[in-house]
Amino acid sequence: AAVVEHSFEVGNFTVERLCNPLVITAVNGSLPGPTINVQEGDTLVVHVLNSSPYNITIHWHGIFQFLTAWADGPEFVTQCGIPPASSYTYRFNITGQEGTLWWHAHSVNLRATVYGALIIRPQNGNSYPFTQPDEELPPILFGEWWNRNVVDIENETYESGGAFPEPDAYTINGLPGDLYSCSQNQTFQLSVSQGKTYLMRIINSALNNQLFFKIANHNFTVVAIDAAYTNPYTTDVIITAPGHTVDVLFTANQPVGSYYMTASPYHTISQTFNNVPTRGILVYENSTSASPVDVTMPINNDTDTAHRFYTNITGLADGPHWVPVPLTVDESMFITFGLGLAACLDCTFAIPGMRLSASMNNESFVLPRGRGLSMLEAFYQNETGVYTKDFPDNPPFEFDYTNPNVSNGVQTLSFAPKSTKVKTLKFNSTVQVVLQNTAILGVENHPIHIHGFNFHVLAQGFGNYNATRDEPTFNLVNPQIRNTVAVPVGGWAVIRFIANNPGIWTAHCHLEAHLPWGLSMAFEVENGPTPETTLPAPPADLPKC
Ligand code: C2O
Repeated sequence: AAVVEHSFEVGNFTVERLCNPLVITAVNGSLPGPTINVQEGDTLVVHVLNSSPYNITIHWHGIFQFLTAWADGPEFVTQCGIPPASSYTYRFNITGQEGTLWWHAHSVNLRATVYGALIIRPQNGNSYPFTQPDEELPPILFGEWWNRNVVDIENETYESGGAFPEPDAYTINGLPGDLYSCSQNQTFQLSVSQGKTYLMRIINSALNNQLFFKIANHNFTVVAIDAAYTNPYTTDVIITAPGHTVDVLFTANQPVGSYYMTASPYHTISQTFNNVPTRGILVYENSTSASPVDVTMPINNDTDTAHRFYTNITGLADGPHWVPVPLTVDESMFITFGLGLAACLDCTFAIPGMRLSASMNNESFVLPRGRGLSMLEAFYQNETGVYTKDFPDNPPFEFDYTNPNVSNGVQTLSFAPKSTKVKTLKFNSTVQVVLQNTAILGVENHPIHIHGFNFHVLAQGFGNYNATRDEPTFNLVNPQIRNTVAVPVGGWAVIRFIANNPGIWTAHCHLEAHLPWGLSMAFEVENGPTPETTLPAPPADLPKC
């Protein structure tokens, strides 16, 4: 195993998109940022120098961080932000996982432009557990673009109490494609040779939108999701939620020519949004065609297509790094989550005296800003006053979770109290969580991401979860393994994981707009009985609050 070392300089630079020059914050002057390539078992060392005007942190999305919670990255959770003109070195081993992950800023919404791919290949001598591709393509990263400074937009949105605006464009590898005004010259192109089979790694690094993805006239075979191998699954359409990755094989088996590769939003909430897709072009070697073959995308609220993709994939049981489903459950939780409201006297948002808000089990999470320590430092030092340990295992009462015509008792739930609460777990306990969407204010598919752990997705469905009806449908044999589950709109998902990593691990909606509203919680996993299962001391350069 090797030590792979990178230097990231986070800084401001000017780029032009949609004929609009804009100062953005990015790593090493590139959008997306650098791709990191490692092999399973390597140690990754990334020296981050912050030359931007913001406090910044980097999160390695989906990396287990076993005993290295100090390198996980969420601001105020595992570390305080790296202040301008300072640096911090992230150092961790990458063991027990292979495939495609990514890294992104985890401080305010800077991940809009601070993101890149993290590719974990098998160790020398090990091969992929699927047909060997002839070639690997550069990673495909979806993003979103706003014609204004995203941090300014976030601050203004929070002050007004309203919703984060839809992007001016979606992007593929930072480029909008030719369908927006003044974007004709910024189209991502990918060349392939006829007859070859390719491994393509797809990452949804957009802030707020799930995206369908198709390549005209080509099928994909999914072989991994969220850096966990799957049984091969063939489809002409992929869907990803922010946070998700999908690895696919595809064969350039069409006539020599060029083909659009298009990403369009999956959007179920009834509000105006940007429905113009981003597209790139797949160009065959020796193609002379000037007009690429077009592709028909699913309509934007095509929940059937999204649900089919999300539920048809199964895990590659007995493949490399497969973890069997824990068959006993030590901690069983039922977590409702969704949008609500909070009081706000001077908000200018449409509902008088209110702002948008969000909660999990009726607790609206606030980061411990200004409390002197990150949550992980408080955990390590046994300090009280940063967070409390009373995150509830269940919502305050049972109600009809997915009926938007909420009754009186439920109405009070729309105003969830603000808190910084964790659920404490014993080391190595097995945890089952029913994730239940609510309709207190709007129904939407929320991608729930957990740091520090992969989980098995045992079942997913619509409406209210019903243990008697739904438990018999659990897949305990070869369920998909993920780090982010897109919980069906007006529905639920059941996950299991083993809390084998001491520290503080946040679980949150990966729609960035819902984070400042409080759609978040955290697990506190206690140290194990030995030094090998105890969180070590923080690195000396850990930024101070
Ligand atoms: Cu990819 Cu907490 O995030």
